[in-house]
Amino acid sequence: MARDFVSNDEIIQEAYRRLSQGAWDYLVGGSESETSMRRNRHGFDRIAFRPRILVDVANVDPSTTFLGQQLRIPAILAPVGSLQEFDPDGGAAAARGATAFGTMQAVSSVTMPSLEEIATASATPKIFQLYVQGDREWTRDIVGRVKQAGYAALAITVDVARYSRRERQMVTRYAPPTRREPPDPKWRASLTWDTLDEIREMWGDGPFMLKGVMTGEDAALAVQHGVDYVWVSNHGGRQLDHTLGSAEVMPEIVQAVAGRARIILDSGVQRGSDIIKAIALGADVVALGKLQGWALAAAGAEGVTRMLEILEDEMIVSMGLMGVTKVDQITSSYICEGETVTPAHEMSAWVNKPQDRFV
Ligand SMILES: Cc1cc2nc3c(=O)[nH]c(=O)nc-3n(C[C@H](O)[C@H](O)[C@H](O)COP(=O)(O)O)c2cc1C
Repeated sequence: MARDFVSNDEIIQEAYRRLSQGAWDYLVGGSESETSMRRNRHGFDRIAFRPRILVDVANVDPSTTFLGQQLRIPAILAPVGSLQEFDPDGGAAAARGATAFGTMQAVSSVTMPSLEEIATASATPKIFQLYVQGDREWTRDIVGRVKQAGYAALAITVDVARYSRRERQMVTRYAPPTRREPPDPKWRASLTWDTLDEIREMWGDGPFMLKGVMTGEDAALAVQHGVDYVWVSNHGGRQLDHTLGSAEVMPEIVQAVAGRARIILDSGVQRGSDIIKAIALGADVVALGKLQGWALAAAGAEGVTRMLEILEDEMIVSMGLMGVTKVDQITSSYICEGETVTPAHEMSAWVNKPQDRFV
């Protein structure tokens, strides 16, 4: 039973038992040396808390509002492609798991089932994430379908001008379904700020997100181009290798955005304490990629709900121990720079990697 999992580490171990080596490598692997991926963890691991004492924390509320929705914690599901590799119901199972807990999902444009089926799989409004894989008419058509299906926001992912060298899956000779007949790469490679303006216009006035922002310069440009939500991400370390970690670029992003847009952060978020750190750095919400895949693989929709419950519990414990009772009290005064005590890796939020346990 999913509710028997006591930690997200246990969920990951169950996912490891259930997944084929290829699907595991697809979910977990970063690009090339995996430096970007490790820096994501390093970026969180090097932040220390500055707890305050003797505050009444009998009632701690980790909820927030986002896109007009009440979220039980400031964490949404990130867009993840090929979710059907982890659970037969794919994005529909993720939708049910997120709604049962009380949060939102961003739906990948390259997962199954269709965007219409995922939209109706649960009642909660959702975000649609678009990879531009065709000409203007192709894009107009899909944006029309997204509107028709009632999505609450549109996110354009722009850190995929080239598909990266993900060497774990290359070595296992595994290709996710989307790579078995890859679309013409020229569409993603030729995107510019002009294309973004065109899509903004097709979408209209609704909430518009740009995913894959890693510099203050681009965050400022995004705001100038009418982006309402700057989505800080290095794709979980799966695209350009040797970037900084997502948490590490937050100061320059926050400075450049200067309150003119809201900020979503992903890449490396694995614990309730990471969510608190991200909020302290200036994010409004975080998004969960690998954790979502692990939870789905371990126990389907119920696994996703349980993974989120565990994050909520971790948040309540840490907030209580820090002397804060509400998310909007979490400011930069609660964090400082600390030395890391373990080498960063894709699972350094826990004690061991599952593959090290099973040898
Ligand atoms: C298996 C997998 C598939 C992904 N597919 C997509 C996708 O289709 N679209 C997208 O914008 N990002 C995709 N991402 C990136 C996530 O949205 C997110 O940026 C990243 O996973 C966050 O890092 P984390 O895995 O450390 O949480 C994918 C990530 C994973 C792990």
